[in-house]
Amino acid sequence: MTALTLTQGDITRVSADAIVNAANSSLLGGGGVDGAIHRRGGPAILADCRRLRAGHYGKGLPTGQAVATTAGELDARWVIHTVGPRYSQQEDRSELLASCYRASLRVADELGARTVAFPAVSAGIYGWPMDDAARIAVETVRSTRTAVEEVRFVLFDERSHEAFAARLRTTS
Ligand code: AR6
Repeated sequence: MTALTLTQGDITRVSADAIVNAANSSLLGGGGVDGAIHRRGGPAILADCRRLRAGHYGKGLPTGQAVATTAGELDARWVIHTVGPRYSQQEDRSELLASCYRASLRVADELGARTVAFPAVSAGIYGWPMDDAARIAVETVRSTRTAVEEVRFVLFDERSHEAFAARLRTTS
């Protein structure tokens, strides 16, 4: 059984085997969580990302997929980068957002990570409504088979923390 836990705060301050980054397909950094992880984790993360871009991910990391790098100076062994979809009112992209959580947990299993910290992927710059982002995150993690023992959602502010807390209180 995977325990789902909740913390309010900055994901770059969290200790976990792996910290998930809400990246963009370039893997070369950005704002939000991505900017914070690269700033605090230092240049080793970007160096790994550049190697990925020079190799298998020449065209970038597709939306809904995940890939790991070193965590540099963060208190974690790995950063798992995933690319969430931009929210669209015209098109239902929920499956791509669910895929971010599934793919990240698959990578975590391959690495042997026991504890994984997730931000609210897509719910910042990519515009996903927080309640729906929380629903997809919690439902997907609950329904994914994984050896990860603890998935910790790390929410930046009270509003997002409450959205995830409300969803975790539901039984299905
Ligand atoms: N710790 C925890 N949560 C955070 C932190 C932090 N340090 N900083 C922001 N959040 P976002 P996205 C929250 O924008 O929507 C980047 O430029 C934030 O309040 O980081 O997937 C990438 O390069 C929000 O609730 O990710 C992409 O271009 C949540 O984390 C793009 O943004 C996600 O917000 C990805 O956008």
